[in-house]
Amino acid sequence: MERIKQHAIWGHKGTFVLAATGSAVGLGNIWKFPYITGENGGGAFVLMYLVFIALIGVPVMIAEVVLGRHGRANPVDSVRKMAQQSRVSPHWSLIGALGVLTAFLILSFYSVVAGWALDYMSTAVQGGFSGWNGESASAAFDALLADPARLMLWQTVFIGLTVLVVAFGVTRGLETAVRVLMPLLFLLLLLLLGYAAVAGEFAQGLHFMFDFNVSDLSWQGASIALGHAFFTLSLAMGAIMAYGSYMPGKASIGKMVLTVAVLDTLVALVAGLAMFPIVFATPGISPGDGPGLMFVSLPVAFGNMPGGVIFGVAFFVLVTLAAWSSTISLLEPCVAYITERFGLKRYTANGLIAGSAWLLGIGSVLSFNHWADFTGLFGMNVFGFLDFVTQRVMLPLGGLAMALFVGWVARRELLRHELRQESEGQFELWLTLLKYLCPPALLLILIGGFWA
Ligand code: PHE
Repeated sequence: MERIKQHAIWGHKGTFVLAATGSAVGLGNIWKFPYITGENGGGAFVLMYLVFIALIGVPVMIAEVVLGRHGRANPVDSVRKMAQQSRVSPHWSLIGALGVLTAFLILSFYSVVAGWALDYMSTAVQGGFSGWNGESASAAFDALLADPARLMLWQTVFIGLTVLVVAFGVTRGLETAVRVLMPLLFLLLLLLLGYAAVAGEFAQGLHFMFDFNVSDLSWQGASIALGHAFFTLSLAMGAIMAYGSYMPGKASIGKMVLTVAVLDTLVALVAGLAMFPIVFATPGISPGDGPGLMFVSLPVAFGNMPGGVIFGVAFFVLVTLAAWSSTISLLEPCVAYITERFGLKRYTANGLIAGSAWLLGIGSVLSFNHWADFTGLFGMNVFGFLDFVTQRVMLPLGGLAMALFVGWVARRELLRHELRQESEGQFELWLTLLKYLCPPALLLILIGGFWA
């Protein structure tokens, strides 16, 4: 009870869904999903992504929430508690530690990209997109990346914002923010979708995202799709486990997880459907343009549509907020772990972790300019390497370990108790997927992605 009181932030049942959705919906959905879809052939990639979300992401997410709610502690101690009560080695808690480390690494480069959104917000406020076309938009984006001081400024502001919330505790601020903002973000995306349908090449966008060519399937695409399924659901990073640990005992884990997964997927699909028609209608940009896709295509739309200043500001404000509710959930498990494990004060731990993430983030900042030619990390620069190592290695590995631990090692009665709201059939289906489908699929893709 102690710990629940101490962390008691979820006022009511629905808050887990909101907070977990706030964590899940972020740059991954709006910035990353469209551009990796563009780079990996469209429809085939989208299909793999959807299958991975449903058959691997959801079962692993349920497992993670089960661990969190059962343990009622930071990720490391939650896993340890389950291990001890299942009478196996406490070293399984390494799963939690791997998650916390992954969260830290992601925080470092995620804040840099979130900084881009802040920069675009300030441009939007000044009406700066007016009259942009494909070429000028690309040039503006390149100019931002070429300017380390400007990148660092916004990276610093963004980390500061995250530290602020985590320092004050994730209480009312986040809960209210997420409650108001998530629906608003969705509304705005629908509006952009409307614009894309009218002014863009909507049919072409639709075909690109949903036409399925068997020849487009590849190991590399599968590995990226799976890594992204984990990333976008905030899995294997302790974030969902930490949020799950605040969930009331009465709530049905299965229902809540499904809601989060559906919302997260919808936001990603709508973001893609809003962006690709504009991309196809704009000379000078194409789906495979990489990380700049959102920052190039949408400003062109905002710069040429009526009321574009307002929509532009609103959009980048909301992207920033979506990213913010995600970084909070990245920093929180790190802070919880460091304070509970090493007895550091919350402020000290917060400053220490955020400061280190900021420092490491500078490596990502420089990857786009001064260090662009440095590819000493297995052929990648710092940003590329961190992106690869976290999403293609650490996330599948963490997921694999979690599926093995919960599916094969943890005591069945403990799991059934956490999932007592679910029917016997639902429980069996979940456990079967977790035991027999998730581990081999994760292993195959982990290895296949390396050799592809
Ligand atoms: N899910 C977030 C996104 O899609 C990223 C994230 C990962 C946030 C892990 C928190 C924890 O943008």
